Amino acid sequence: MPDAVHLGSGKVRELYALDAGRLLLVASDRISTFDVVLPTEIPDKGRVLTGLSAFWFARTRPITPNHLLALRSDARSTECRRLTMLPIECVVRGYLAGSGWKDYQKTGEVCGHRLPPGLRESDRLPAPIFTPATKATSGHDENITREHAVRLVGAERFAEAERLSTALYRFAAEHASARGILIADTKFEFGVDGDGRLVLGDEALTPDSSRFWPADEYTPGGPQPSFDKQFVRDFCEKTGWNKTAPGPALPPDVVAGTRARYVEAFERLTGVPFTRYLADPQVVLG
Ligand SMILES: Nc1ncnc2c1ncn2[C@@H]1O[C@H](COP(=O)(O)OP(=O)(O)O)[C@@H](O)[C@H]1O
Ligand SMILES: [Mg+2]
Repeated sequence: MPDAVHLGSGKVRELYALDAGRLLLVASDRISTFDVVLPTEIPDKGRVLTGLSAFWFARTRPITPNHLLALRSDARSTECRRLTMLPIECVVRGYLAGSGWKDYQKTGEVCGHRLPPGLRESDRLPAPIFTPATKATSGHDENITREHAVRLVGAERFAEAERLSTALYRFAAEHASARGILIADTKFEFGVDGDGRLVLGDEALTPDSSRFWPADEYTPGGPQPSFDKQFVRDFCEKTGWNKTAPGPALPPDVVAGTRARYVEAFERLTGVPFTRYLADPQVVLG
């Protein structure tokens, strides 16, 4: 790509500038677990993330504008509008897991939302809650209170981000649960365009930005298996890895099983055979 300027590498994606207003986001096959990128790739994982994001972007335009301009034929690159990203991660939780569960056990609250007493790990919440986090430049993202988030983005942007994030979550969670996947929680990233409008950016409603649980195995009262990363997590636990870099290499059966789960999530949610998507990525936009 002679005209693209490499801007940086995330854990999973490569970011290029195409021109002043457009970016190219290229999703690699890298996989991270416990926030560490592993030395082994999962073939086509980046294509699954790209196709799923595009699927949701195409279907959620009535809820919010988004940055998607075009999907390239390699099925892993998207041309996007370049935004000035808000300095918060817009997390929505429908179930009590991860840091939400930890905070609730300590305080009975998550990011200032007081929750009913007696909830168990992985319980469904009475209603989805908006629990913003800071974008940590290194290390783990940190949950913040509404007041803190308002100081970072302003009251008006905060209210709009909360309203849009919650609406997106409700839409996607309903779609997914009808197809056997519970979206326990998810993270959105919004940015502001040249006209000052709030626009959904980044990836959206993928296994990497969300906790996907198999609906048929859902048993609250403890942690749930991950729809996509469970083989990797089980393997990492077995090796006794201490969850700091470098992570362990994955054996072929774990790679194959994990690839199959990513593809299954894609096919269940989009209703499109993955091979059809590879042949013509535009199918997910219809
Ligand atoms: N439309 C956009 N305009 C500007 N930056 C964006 C846009 N969409 C996503 N980004 C940024 O691009 C990066 C995506 O790379 P990723 O691999 O997800 O990084 P990370 O490891 O930080 O999650 C993130 O920093 C995200 O905030
Ligand atoms: Mg990211």
